[in-house]
Amino acid sequence: MVENLIVRGGTVVRSSEVVSADVAIVDGRILEVGSQIAAPTGAIELDATGCLVGPGLVDLHTHLREPGGEEAETVETGCRAGALGGYSAVVAMPNTIPAIDSAAVVAQVIALGQAAAIDVAVAGAITVGRAGQILSPMAEMASLGVTIFTDDGNGVQDAGLMLRAMQYARGLGVTLAEHCEDESLAGSGCMNAGSLASRLGLPGRSGLSEEIMVARDLALAEATGCSLHLLHLSTARSLELCLAAKAKGIDVTFEVTPHHLHLPEELCASYDPVFKVHPPLRTKADIDALVAALIAGQIDAVATDHAPHPAQAKDRPFDQAAPGMLGLEHAAALTWEALGAEGDGRMLFEVLSRRPARIARLTEASERRGGQSAHGGELMAGEDANLCIFDPSRRPIVDPAALASRSRNTPYAGRTLTGGIRHTIVRGELIVRESEAQR
Ligand code: DOR
Repeated sequence: MVENLIVRGGTVVRSSEVVSADVAIVDGRILEVGSQIAAPTGAIELDATGCLVGPGLVDLHTHLREPGGEEAETVETGCRAGALGGYSAVVAMPNTIPAIDSAAVVAQVIALGQAAAIDVAVAGAITVGRAGQILSPMAEMASLGVTIFTDDGNGVQDAGLMLRAMQYARGLGVTLAEHCEDESLAGSGCMNAGSLASRLGLPGRSGLSEEIMVARDLALAEATGCSLHLLHLSTARSLELCLAAKAKGIDVTFEVTPHHLHLPEELCASYDPVFKVHPPLRTKADIDALVAALIAGQIDAVATDHAPHPAQAKDRPFDQAAPGMLGLEHAAALTWEALGAEGDGRMLFEVLSRRPARIARLTEASERRGGQSAHGGELMAGEDANLCIFDPSRRPIVDPAALASRSRNTPYAGRTLTGGIRHTIVRGELIVRESEAQR
C-alpha cells in the first residue's frame, strides 16, 4: 500500500552534495526535500537520525531461480531478501529452468516481478538454453524492455559466436554481460588455482581463465562498438585490463562482488562448500587491488551474484557442491566496510545504486518493463520514491536462520557487520521498517 511518508533527520546523499534534510513522500513520489519540512497529511514518520538516505539500491546480478529453481528461491522470497538489503530493483539472471531465452519466459518473470516487493528487471540469455551454440532471439526480448543479455553461470566460450552476438546487440542498442571464465582453462576446478589448492588436493580454477576471456571480450567490444558489461571480476589483472580498456574509450563497465572484496581463498581450507563460488575466492593481493579500486572510484558497480542453493546442492564434498553464495541481505554493509566505513556515503550509493541503475538503464520508469519505476535518482521533488536508508552505526550479527532468502548458503554466518538497513521505500511503499519486512 502506498502511504504518505516523512523521513526525518537523515543525511540525504546526492551525487554532488550531501545535506541534512527530511524527505516527504506522497503518492509514490518525492514531494519535497528540505530542512524540518511539514509532514504530508497522515504521513508515517520515519526516524533516519544518524542514517544515510539515498536512492534504493540496484543489483545487477541476482539469481531469483524462478522458473524451475523454486526450492532455492522464488521471485517473491528473493525480492524480500533484496528489500531487507536496501534494494529497490534487481536484475534477474537468466540461468533458470528453462533459461530466460525467449519473450515468453521474459514475460513470465516480469509478471512475477509485478507482484513482488521490489522492481524486477530481467536479463535475457545470449544463446538458446545458455548452451553456447545458437544466438537467442534477443530482438523479441528487447521489445519487452530487456536491455542486458548474458549466459551467466557460464561464459560464451566461442569467440566467433560472441562476435556475432556483439554485432547483433550493437544493432539493438543493448548490453552484453559476460561471465568471464574460459572453460578450457577453468576445467573442473573448484577453488583458486595455486599452491593452496595443491596442498588441499582440490583442482584449481585459475585467474588466467578469467583474464583471457576479459581480454578477448574487450578486443571484441573494441572491434564491434558493442556495449559490454563484465560480471563479478575477481583478479587484479582483470581490473588492470578493464581500466586500460576504459582509458582507451572502449564501451565497457564492470562489477565486483562483496565476496571478492572480503573473502580470501584461505577460507576454502575449511573444505566448507559455503565458500565455493565461480569465479572462486582469490588471493589477498587480488582483494587488496579490488578494494583499492573501489575506494578510488574506479569500480562501476558492486553486484551481489546472490546465488541461492538448497542444502542438498550445497552440503556435499567441496569439489561436488554447487558454486554460489547469498548476497542481497548484507551487500550494503559489506560495501560500506570495504570503503573503510567512512566518507560521506556518496561512493556507497554510486556503486550500489546510481551506476548500476545506469548500466541496466533503470533510470527512467518503463511501461514496457511492466510499469517499473525509475531507480538510482537524486532524491529531488517529483522523482519516484525509491529510497534506501542505511544506518552505519548498526552492528548486526549474521544469523543464517533469520535470512529472508529461501536458502541458507551465506558465507558470513556469525560475522558482525558494519551497518545495516533501517528502512526501504519502493514506489512510495514502506516495505522495510526498522529493519523488518512489511510484506
Ligand atoms: O558461483 C556462481 N553461482 N557463479 C555463477 O556465475 C552462477 C551462480 C549460480 O547461478 O549459482
